Amino acid sequence: MHDDCAYAVKLIHRPPVYLFLIPSVQSSIFKKLFLLNTLFRIQSSIKHWLDKVDEHSIHSPFFYDFYLRIIRGETKSHFTDIEKLRTQLLQNNSIIKLKDLGDTSAYFKSEDRSISKIAHTSLTDAKYCELFYRIAENIEAENIVELGTSMGITSLYLAQLKKSRVTTFEGNPDLINIAKTNFELFGKKNIEIIEGNIDQTLSDYLQNPAKIDFALMDANHRYEPTVRYFNWIAKRMSDTGIIVIDDIYRSPEMAKAWNELRKHDLVYSSVDLFTCGILFFDLSLTKQHFIWSY
Ligand SMILES: C[S@@+](CC[C@H](N)C(=O)[O-])C[C@H]1O[C@@H](n2cnc3c(N)ncnc32)[C@H](O)[C@@H]1O
Repeated sequence: MHDDCAYAVKLIHRPPVYLFLIPSVQSSIFKKLFLLNTLFRIQSSIKHWLDKVDEHSIHSPFFYDFYLRIIRGETKSHFTDIEKLRTQLLQNNSIIKLKDLGDTSAYFKSEDRSISKIAHTSLTDAKYCELFYRIAENIEAENIVELGTSMGITSLYLAQLKKSRVTTFEGNPDLINIAKTNFELFGKKNIEIIEGNIDQTLSDYLQNPAKIDFALMDANHRYEPTVRYFNWIAKRMSDTGIIVIDDIYRSPEMAKAWNELRKHDLVYSSVDLFTCGILFFDLSLTKQHFIWSY
């Protein structure tokens, strides 16, 4: 093949890195990815809806009770002040800088975004924050690990548990400052924020041999880091420990991670709620997988 032709073919199959720096190329790649992931989510939600069961199909006494009390149950504590804070964040138009930590694309290094937009797009809904609280409360979780603090809303929910110590990881300096202010505002001494990229900070933290009772993985929603972080944390889970993975159908790669992790040797049962997945490390459970709505 003529050199020029060979180069043109190479360009089509493997576009050079600098092309991704052109804003119009970035935006068209983002739009296509967004569209593909949206189509994937629609298809997955239909499948989830067709496959889901309710309490009438649960034979295990443990999961029957878990379904009725935790999934269908109500949270007795009140989180009005945390929700007031969320409302303030939703109305805050100040701009902060977001650093790319590998959860979007290697080609997008930083981005200016309003606090209100972040609050709209990346904070866990109150309904799920309450569910995480109930799950952690049910196992009387003390040592709690959260990957992905953002502005600290889920950390604040989990820190309301009586004996909890929440260690939360965040790599964006502007979000860390906001989260720290929020923790001070609530006078929360049982939350420690670990600053920096989880790729480095999590392995350092896990040098500490303390067992983890409850972990929430809501940071880097890519296949490889999800599996890698899970494998690190799984070895530290307590006997009745639970890991919740958020956004399991956000993209085909997250669904792939979820489908592998729920079959992991250390996982004894799993619950797929579509928005998140719950993994149980309790040895006394027989291996089961449930698809429920929430
Ligand atoms: C979906 S948000 C977390 C939301 C939070 N759990 C809540 O609902 O209140 C994910 C956060 O993880 C952080 N993050 C993603 N990848 C990271 C990494 N590799 N290291 C540190 N932080 C990371 C992002 O900066 C972002 O703030």
